[in-house]
Amino acid sequence: MSDRKKVTLPVLFKKVAEGQPITWLTCYDYPTAYFQEQAGVDMILVGDSLGMTMLGYNSTLPVTMDDMIRHTQAVRRGAPTAFLIGDMPYMSYQPSVETAIRNAGRFMAEAGCDAIKLEGGAEMADRITGIVAAGIPAIGHLGLTPQSVSSLGGFRLQGKGALQAKKIIDDAKALEQAGAFAILLEMVPDRVCKLITERAENCIIMSLGSGPDAHGQLLIYHDMFGLYPKFKPRMAKVFGNAGEVILTGLEQYVAEVQDKTFPAEENYFGMKDEEHDELLKLLK
Ligand code: KIV
Repeated sequence: MSDRKKVTLPVLFKKVAEGQPITWLTCYDYPTAYFQEQAGVDMILVGDSLGMTMLGYNSTLPVTMDDMIRHTQAVRRGAPTAFLIGDMPYMSYQPSVETAIRNAGRFMAEAGCDAIKLEGGAEMADRITGIVAAGIPAIGHLGLTPQSVSSLGGFRLQGKGALQAKKIIDDAKALEQAGAFAILLEMVPDRVCKLITERAENCIIMSLGSGPDAHGQLLIYHDMFGLYPKFKPRMAKVFGNAGEVILTGLEQYVAEVQDKTFPAEENYFGMKDEEHDELLKLLK
C-alpha cells in the first residue's frame, strides 16, 4: 500500500491555491483502485459509467444504488487514501431532496466515500443544499450529463452557442452558491470552462474534455487503456492499449491449450513416486 497521507478537502483546496492541477480518474474495482492509489491519483470517481464499462449496458440509466455501493466498497479497499467520490445513479436523487440525502448518506456510511457527485444545474441546487447541510461534500456535474442523454440529443458537445453557454455558466454559479465544493464540466468548450474557472470563488472546477483551464482533469479509466470496446470518445487520450495486450494474451492462451504447450511443468504440481505407488495400491 502507498504511504501517502489521506487526501482531504483542505489538501485539494491547497493544490488549487498553489496552482497544482488535480488528477481524477474513474475506477470501479479493487485491483484498478490499488494501481491508481500507487500512481498517486488525487481523486477517484466510482462513476455510474460502470453501467456501460463494467456491466455492458448501453447507457447509465439501469445502474442501481446497490450496484454503486458494491463497486465503491471494492474501490475503497484498494485506494484507502484517495479522495473517493460516489456517483449518484439515475433516480437516486431526482425524486426529492430527502431521497437525495438518504442515498448520499449510503455512499458515506456503507462505502467510505469522501463526497458524492450528481448531475444537473440550478434545478438540482436544492439537492446539493440538502446533502451539504447533512454534512456530505457534494460535486455538481454540468455540460454533457449522461443521465439526460436523451433530452440532450446524444453524447455531444454542450454550450457551443452563447445562449447555452450562458446557461451553463449560470448553473455553475447556482451549484457553487448551493454549496458544491467542486463542479465537473463534461464536454463544454474550453473557453466556457475557462470563464467558469475564473469566476469560481470557493469551488474547484474539473474538466472532462473541456480543456486545460480548469483546476484539474478527469478521464474515464476504460478510455485511457483501450478497455471499452464499443467506442472511444474524441476527448479521451489512450495512455496504453491494455485491451490489445489482454486480447493477444487470451488468443495465446487458447492456442497454447489447444496445441498442449500449456500447462508446462512450472504450471502444475507433481506427486512423489512413493506416494503415487501407494495410491495405486490403495485403488486396487
Ligand atoms: O459516471 C461517470 O463516470 C461520470 C463521468 C462521465 C464524469 O459521471
